[in-house]
Amino acid sequence: MKFFIDSVDIQAIKKFTLSGMVDGVTTNPSIIAKSGKDFKEVIREICEIVPGPVSAEVTATEAKLMVEEGLILSKIAKNVTIKVPLTWDGLEACKTLSDKNIMVNVTLCFSAQQALLAAKAGATFISPFIGRLDDLGEDGMDLIKDIRAIYDNYPSLKTEILAASIRSADHVRRAAVIGADISTLPPSVLDELAQHQLTDKGLKAFLDDWEKTGQKIL
Ligand code: E4P
Repeated sequence: MKFFIDSVDIQAIKKFTLSGMVDGVTTNPSIIAKSGKDFKEVIREICEIVPGPVSAEVTATEAKLMVEEGLILSKIAKNVTIKVPLTWDGLEACKTLSDKNIMVNVTLCFSAQQALLAAKAGATFISPFIGRLDDLGEDGMDLIKDIRAIYDNYPSLKTEILAASIRSADHVRRAAVIGADISTLPPSVLDELAQHQLTDKGLKAFLDDWEKTGQKIL
C-alpha cells in the first residue's frame, strides 16, 4: 500500500520522507485555509520534496473553468495531480485533463457508483471518504470494499483507490486488508501506525537488561 500525507505540514512531510513512507501528498482547500499558506507556493515547495503525486484541488465549479485552473496548477511541477470534485462538471474536467495526460484525483466520493463514473472518466485516483461516512453512522470501509470489487471486475479500469478521510490506524489496517491502493493520512495517524505498547514495553526491558551488562556498541 502506498501512503500519501494529507497535509501541507512541511516538517512532517520531510520527517516521514526520511523513512520512505511518503509516496505522495494530498491537499484540499480546507487544509490550505487552515495552514494560512499560499496555495501555489506550498504546492511548489512540497513538489520539491516529494517526487510522487501531489494533489492540488480546483475551486471552480464549471468544467471549463476547472480545466483552466487545472492547467495552471499542473504547470507548477510535473508531479502535480489535479483534484476535482465528483460532480458532472468534475467528471467532464477529469476526462479533459486525463486526455491531456495530466493526473487527476476525483475527490468527495461517497458511493461505489460514483467511483465507477470517475474510473470511466479516466481518473488516476478516486478518493472515497471513509471518516465522513463513519461520522454519519455508516461503515465507510464498506465503500472501499465495493469499489475494490467493482474495479477488480473490470480490469480495463486503471484508477487507483485512494482511501481518504482516514482517522485512525485501524482505518489503514482495514483499507490495506481490502486492498485499497493508497491511504492518505494526516501526520498524526501515520505516526500512530508505528505505535504499540508491547514495543515500548519490550524495548524498555531490553535496554534495562543491556544497561546491566555495562557494555557499549559505540
Ligand atoms: C483527501 O484527499 C482529503 O483531503 C481528506 O482525506 C479529507 O479528510 P477529512 O474528512 O478528515 O477532512
